[in-house]
Amino acid sequence: MSKSNVRVLTGITTSGTPHLGNYVGAIRPAIAASRAAGVESFYFLADYHALIKVDDPARIQRSTLEIAATWIAAGLDPERVTFYRQSDIPEIPELTWFLTCVCGKGLLNRAHAYKAAVDKNHAAGADEDADVTAGLFMYPVLMAADILMFNAHRVPVGRDQVQHIEMARDMASSFNHLYGEHFVLPEAQIEDNVATLPGLDGRKMSKSYDNTIPLFAPPEQLKKLIAGIKTDSRAPGEPKDTEGSALFQIYQAFATPAETAQLRQDFAAGISWADAKLKLFQRIDAEIAPMRATYEDLIAHPEKLEALLQAGAAKARKIATPFTAKVRQAVGLRDLRAQAADKKGDKKDKSTLPSFKQYREADGQFYFKLVDAQGKLLLQSEGFASPKEAGQAVKRLQDLSAPLPALLQEIPVKHLVTAQELESALQQLLAARD
Ligand code: TRP
Repeated sequence: MSKSNVRVLTGITTSGTPHLGNYVGAIRPAIAASRAAGVESFYFLADYHALIKVDDPARIQRSTLEIAATWIAAGLDPERVTFYRQSDIPEIPELTWFLTCVCGKGLLNRAHAYKAAVDKNHAAGADEDADVTAGLFMYPVLMAADILMFNAHRVPVGRDQVQHIEMARDMASSFNHLYGEHFVLPEAQIEDNVATLPGLDGRKMSKSYDNTIPLFAPPEQLKKLIAGIKTDSRAPGEPKDTEGSALFQIYQAFATPAETAQLRQDFAAGISWADAKLKLFQRIDAEIAPMRATYEDLIAHPEKLEALLQAGAAKARKIATPFTAKVRQAVGLRDLRAQAADKKGDKKDKSTLPSFKQYREADGQFYFKLVDAQGKLLLQSEGFASPKEAGQAVKRLQDLSAPLPALLQEIPVKHLVTAQELESALQQLLAARD
């Protein structure tokens, strides 16, 4: 990753079948955004989150399959982004625990979803926590772990999720305050210019209103569902209102401005609802049909998606595994041979471990050296052309030795070394410990 990259991350709960509203409101804009230069995107299937809402194992599996197939069919390029399944990253539940331990219970008491459940119980005269699982209560912590694991800068979400991002910031700050700067504070990114799509009954298209049109419904079913979109009772030939027309709004979400202008004229000229619905069907199908073939192929070949998700998990864990090692180290879950180090409140890490120092020599080159706690020289690097290159080599070595910094003392070479030599020496030592 180059330094200037912005990391964008979002999760999709695997509890349902993707519908047109998901496509217009989240999937399509996210895929477009993932193609922008200078962003590094992380998209994942939030299947641990799904368990909070769904206790039907077959439905979890089916939804995971459908959502994964949808994102790929809609054009997500898994080479370009990191696309993975949450439950393939065991570091996420581990980080969840670390965050749980810095998260105030009061913060979670104030979460909208939990409060809504409690309010409902109060209204029903039931015990306030009736039917509230600890999973629902802990939902924001798991979500914070998703985000903080990859140090995402921006998190595209719907308005209903903004509080969760604020809570993630809160947990990140608490952790950083206690243990040093490990986490980026994420920002919610709300897409204001993507319309929420109305559903069959004119209310927002949503699974909870049971008014959705599945994105990959076969054409005949798509046609039938579109025929069921609520309209008024104006007869053919009578001018129709575009204002408040669900049909018109859905059309607009798929059409070019010119096509939309044309439909507006047709409405004024009294197009029949049947013809307008046919136009809508044709317009949606033109966009969806090419993807539908890919979708159906992937659904029929789950092994393709499984392989793709496994590869995505490996890519994600290249980040998650060393980062979690660092976090473990930070909180004090350490190899016992790594003597010592920072007592609580000892922010300046006056450890007894060796440390890297960077400097410039009279030859104009940039070097680093490794010195022990007393300042005795252990190693000196080759010269680098720029401070940036020297810094990158140091960073690489620090990451590599994070799980066991004491190893640095054991590196057998004591003379001028290349970063490469040092790295392979470290790798050998690490391998010998496994
Ligand atoms: N809670 C999100 C939703 O319901 C899904 C989600 C889980 C998520 N983890 C996330 C979104 C991390 C963004 C980042 O929509």
